Amino acid sequence: RWFLQTLGRVTLVILVTSAGTFYYITQKDRHPGVQLPHDPSKKTLVILGSGWGATSLLKSIDTEAFNVTVISPKNFFLFTPLLPSVAVGTVAGRSIIQPTRFITRHKKRRVAVVEAEAEEIDPFAKTVTFTDTSAVKGEVATKTINYDYLVCAVGAETQTFNIPGIQEHAVFMKELNDAIKFQDRVIDCIETAAFPGQTEEEIRRLLHVVVVGGGPTGVEVSGELHDFLHDDLSNWYPELAPKMRITLIEALPSVLPMFSKELIAYTESTFKQEKINIMTNTMVKEVRDKSVLVRTPDGKDDEVPCGLLVWAGGNKPRKLTTDLMGKLGKEKQNNKRGLVADDHLIVAGAPDNSIYALGDCASTPYAPTAQVASQQGAYLARVFNKLGKRDLLATELDTVKGELEKMKAESGVDFEKDPELKNKVTVAERAVEDMGKVRPFHYSHQGSLAYIGSDKAIADINFWQRKFASAGVMTYVFWRSAYLSTLFSLRNRTLVATDWLKVKLFGR
Ligand code: FAD
Ligand code: NAI
Repeated sequence: RWFLQTLGRVTLVILVTSAGTFYYITQKDRHPGVQLPHDPSKKTLVILGSGWGATSLLKSIDTEAFNVTVISPKNFFLFTPLLPSVAVGTVAGRSIIQPTRFITRHKKRRVAVVEAEAEEIDPFAKTVTFTDTSAVKGEVATKTINYDYLVCAVGAETQTFNIPGIQEHAVFMKELNDAIKFQDRVIDCIETAAFPGQTEEEIRRLLHVVVVGGGPTGVEVSGELHDFLHDDLSNWYPELAPKMRITLIEALPSVLPMFSKELIAYTESTFKQEKINIMTNTMVKEVRDKSVLVRTPDGKDDEVPCGLLVWAGGNKPRKLTTDLMGKLGKEKQNNKRGLVADDHLIVAGAPDNSIYALGDCASTPYAPTAQVASQQGAYLARVFNKLGKRDLLATELDTVKGELEKMKAESGVDFEKDPELKNKVTVAERAVEDMGKVRPFHYSHQGSLAYIGSDKAIADINFWQRKFASAGVMTYVFWRSAYLSTLFSLRNRTLVATDWLKVKLFGR
């Protein structure tokens, strides 16, 4: 009895302390302190974008040394790895976004956040022009500002290869709105199929979802859709669920070419069990209102009827990126993938090393992934923190030199003739120079993860310079814990964990 009473009291104390700590942390996060205002004597750093690269930079940069402005058409960060989960309602959209102001509010010096699209960069005049492209506009909707440093982190847009019909009829999987549109369209297809008097042929068409692109986006969307079909639709629409089909079309000989061979085979066999039809060596040529035109492996054209088509055909640079590349000249900017930058992420051809590029808008030796963009963002934060310290030291040195010059003019004491004083100035000058030297960016690949449906995931993991391939339910547990810990804030982690629990209890 004594033991049980003590155990009860200890548990109560632990619970109350944990709840108190949780409350304290959340409230501290909600009410950060007063910030320093912008300082005209500091240099201006403009960051374009609020995605993986920009947010990682913002998180670690010491804003005391710069006047920072963030410009992005989205005033939030989107955790893309869980976007396919939002598409089928496993996770709510708000759970995977984090307002950019949440991060900037916690900075020492105020950071200006502007919800606008950067439309033009003049690399020689060092200006950027941006426009409010949202639905509600004020009297002023376009503005041009100067910068000393510009960080281009605008990501990429979906590659369509100008294939006819994609923009009009397909759904993408890149932005939060795409996932919401997907949700609406899937349900609409099912309800339309349930409309009284619908022919069998039309029902089969409406319930056929085609996913184009066998990269990780297409595979994850197919896997998540399968779960929705299996766990929820089969109970809610028992007469329609067996007629629902998912087809994944890929132009190359296999899906997921970036994963190891055994994981590709595992994914293909899991999809077979899940009744997801994979069509490899098949090229989409045209997307129509109610069908998709493909070139089959034997070189023939075939029309595949479908109710919904998801386009996940890869990345291409945004117009802002290609325009900037054009201005910097073909000689320096000669890679179609995006802005050519050196191993310090400095854009080739930009005057005074004033433009940096990172993430999907840059053409670096790395894959266009969140992992790369966030490591590059953290690296750039270190670079700017160093540059900030250097600028501070240089200003102090200039003040000292000015005073020495004044002394020389007033009393004729020339510090150049005093070896000790001259040595001190030289040492300080060298320190300023050294401060400006930064190590090149080094990417550390942690591995690749993808969800393939039926509570299974695949992972190519790098551990102690060795590669491990892993697949199955335990990998899925790892996938979940890895993404839960990578989410940006405690708020996101709490919301996503609660969403997962809600789905287990009540379905999607
Ligand atoms: P983004 O994160 O795309 O951010 C670009 C930002 O720029 C956005 O805020 C955008 O609003 C803004 N912007 C756009 N145009 C302008 C403009 N004109 N002016 C100013 N701002 C602008 N990678 C992984 O490593 N692991 C994963 O599991 C993974 N899953 C993914 C799942 C999906 C569905 C998708 C689509 C991608 C996934 N990726 C994953 C890839 C990853 O999301 C990208 O590589 C990453 O987002 C690149 O970061 P970024 O900062 O370069 O661009
Ligand atoms: P992707 O470029 O990886 O794959 C696109 C696929 O579409 C290609 O395999 C291509 O052959 C195919 N394709 C293009 N046009 C086609 C056509 N006309 N007909 C048939 N197939 C066609 O693009 P994805 O999946 O959007 O990924 C983009 C980047 O984001 C990649 O670097 C990827 O690694 C990363 N990513 C990573 C994830 C993860 O690690 N879990 C998840 C999602 C994306």
